[in-house]
Amino acid sequence: MRGLKDKVVVITGAASGIGKASALRFAEEGAHVVVADFADGSATVREVEAKGVKSIYVQTDVTSIDSARAMIAKAIEVFGRVDVLINNAGITKDAMMKKMAKESFDAVIAVNLTGVFNCTSAALPSMLENKSGVVLTTSSIVGLFGNIGQTNYAASKWGVIGMTKSWAKEMAKNGLRFNCVAPGFIGTDMVRKIPAEVLQEKIIVKIPAGRLGEPEEVAAAFAFLASDDAQFINGTVLSVDGACTI
Ligand code: CAA
Ligand code: NAI
Repeated sequence: MRGLKDKVVVITGAASGIGKASALRFAEEGAHVVVADFADGSATVREVEAKGVKSIYVQTDVTSIDSARAMIAKAIEVFGRVDVLINNAGITKDAMMKKMAKESFDAVIAVNLTGVFNCTSAALPSMLENKSGVVLTTSSIVGLFGNIGQTNYAASKWGVIGMTKSWAKEMAKNGLRFNCVAPGFIGTDMVRKIPAEVLQEKIIVKIPAGRLGEPEEVAAAFAFLASDDAQFINGTVLSVDGACTI
């Protein structure tokens, strides 16, 4: 991809799944990677550095604005700038609406929606000063179409699309770009938590591609959207879902 070499990319939730695959993909493109995760991301750092670029792990809780600010400050202290932020940390707490506890709603909104606000807000001052920056966020097919058992998650993933479009309108004139990727069902720990019968009989049968996606297939979309090839793409949502519409 054009223009990713020596860029500094911060990826939240990069200890596992889509975030880790993205860290490795950006490393292959020659970018340096800040692995920001609540969980230990040192294994990701080792694998990224094995590709010949620099990487650090910063323990981060995206639900805390102070933690988000400290994470961006560390990235700037070590690398001097942040070129790309990928808001990817996310959780599920699925339940039918009639059984969904208020705590489950609040917890999912705190990570998946407020967390995106916190990290973007922390990264913006330096991006605005540099008159350059890309913010990418992992939405979901569930944010576009809703899903059984996911009131909280659907609200959060729809919400990040609204924020992204608003930011693009506000800050395109400042040289910044904001886009979402909306993955379908991807083979990570998050999907492995779905009851086996539901996954097989209600979900996989509805994916025209006939299989779950791979984390690397989502990482490829992030790499494209962060690259110079996507310079006029701003405020959009790129689906990576094997034609699934749930
Ligand atoms: N799609 C279609 N039907 C579903 C469904 C789904 N995603 N989830 C549940 N159902 C159906 C069940 O098959 C069941 O149908 P029958 O009554 O015909 O048997 C009915 O809904 C009730 O389900 P349960 O018996 O399992 O009810 P429960 O109260 O014990 O559990 C639940 C409800 C927690 C929602 C559980 O069914 C579940 O975890 N479902 C999966 C939800 C899901 O799709 N989560 C996606 C997680 S991955 C992710 O979020 C990443 C992303 O962005 C795509
Ligand atoms: P995952 O569970 O493997 O990775 C999520 C990561 O986020 C974990 O490493 C976790 O430690 C981290 N995290 C959770 N809470 C955090 C917090 N408060 N602060 C910092 N980090 C935190 O799951 P996966 O599948 O890789 O998910 C990545 C993103 O992709 C999420 O936003 C998810 O909602 C989204 N997504 C996933 C899909 C899938 O099918 N797997 C489909 C569509 C979207």
